Amino acid sequence: EALSKNEKLALISDDHKRKKVEEILSCLLIDDVKIQTFIATFEDQIRLANSPDENLRKRTNLFWENTYVRRLLDGNENGVFLGMDLGGTNFRIVLVRFKDGCAETTTKYYNLEKELLSGPSSGIFEHIAVSLQSFLQEETLPKNEKVLLGFTFSFPSVQKSLKESTIQTWTKSIKCTDGPGLDSVKLLEEAIEKKGGLPVPVDVVARISDTTGTLLAGNYLDKNCRIGLILGTGSNAAFVEHVSNIEKWDSCYKDNEDSSLVVINCEFGALGDNGCMDFIKTEFDRELDQHSNHVGSYTFEKLYAGHYLGELVRLVLVKMIREGVLFNGKESDKLFERWKFTTTHVTAIESDKGTDSTKTMQVLEEFDLLSVATEEDVMLFREVCAIMSQRGAFIVASAMVVLLHHINLPEVTIAVDGSLYENHPKYHSHMMEVISKWAPKTMTKMMLVKDGSGQGGAIVASLESKKRSSC
Ligand code: GLC
Repeated sequence: EALSKNEKLALISDDHKRKKVEEILSCLLIDDVKIQTFIATFEDQIRLANSPDENLRKRTNLFWENTYVRRLLDGNENGVFLGMDLGGTNFRIVLVRFKDGCAETTTKYYNLEKELLSGPSSGIFEHIAVSLQSFLQEETLPKNEKVLLGFTFSFPSVQKSLKESTIQTWTKSIKCTDGPGLDSVKLLEEAIEKKGGLPVPVDVVARISDTTGTLLAGNYLDKNCRIGLILGTGSNAAFVEHVSNIEKWDSCYKDNEDSSLVVINCEFGALGDNGCMDFIKTEFDRELDQHSNHVGSYTFEKLYAGHYLGELVRLVLVKMIREGVLFNGKESDKLFERWKFTTTHVTAIESDKGTDSTKTMQVLEEFDLLSVATEEDVMLFREVCAIMSQRGAFIVASAMVVLLHHINLPEVTIAVDGSLYENHPKYHSHMMEVISKWAPKTMTKMMLVKDGSGQGGAIVASLESKKRSSC
């Protein structure tokens, strides 16, 4: 519909050119039929992921992971807790001081050198161990009291208990030579020991995903928060599910806590690796995959997450240039370089309002295209960004619709963390359009919880401390 509504494309005076442009862009349209198919397909895949039959579970790429997080905050938190957040190209350390229902947070950001991303995993873990050392030296903490730490480690892992998990694969920009099969908390503890320990005693008590972290941080702010969504370099969600809905767990697991709830880490990035998302995939998605870090995997995430959105837009622009409908067919070395056009460019272009194309012009200049761009080219450049962004927002919103049906409450807040959501001026409204249409019975709010993923690490440590003291 976005396309048919799109009067701008209708302005292209040359008939042949307009038809060509519409032909190239039409596959990117997410209409009601696709949304409906998506919802049904996602539900099917959830049924497989949830099945007690292992053979059925193998037929889907959805993880539907138990997080072992069984309760949310009650507002009576007290004490000092640490969160450490590794999820992409940088990482964060967070210290949360809870006192009488209030939280005071200190966050520090650290870079990860590019070389570390493809070397042995020990390189990354030692680097974060050293950063933790210096963080603890800078903060004043009692030297003889153990501080509990929750480790937000956002790569697909099989969780065996709150603390133990096994890395499945690397995703996003990390491609270390080892990692799969190893336990991320153990790797962290070994690295800390190798680097000579920490100035303050620290106990790593949990490994969670950034989605669970964001959900917990969101729930601290708003009791209706039941979903944590990451829209950053990668994308994934966690939500509060009724334990009785998890068929794959035997009754023994279901009964051994007095809570009827459990946080499920959907780990839906790989949805579609089995082909079930082919009805959405386009030639651009297939080409992006062929040149990605992890070929053939993380199909769903590659449709819209921040690590990929810019490249998807670039591939469409390249096709338009090759077909002679953009920049009069003039090639640009910079634009023809893979991964050079990023999501940051897309969000900048999407920030231009109405007829003001200032940001778009700056990007065109950066790619040596300003001198050849006609007014029509500028409009098309902006349209490709708009259509690809809307496609992503509609797809991920459809996934939220499915989670909202599961949660089945009259009011639900979705906590969102990540640069794509934070910086993209239209993502929120695109998503709300789909959510309000397809989950009309739930009053849904979406709120940005900046750094929620790291804060959630500290929160899960506080939940664990409460559990320990009540035992
Ligand atoms: C990737 C990771 C997932 C994480 C998401 C968002 O999809 O596999 O664990 O939650 O990125 O960072």
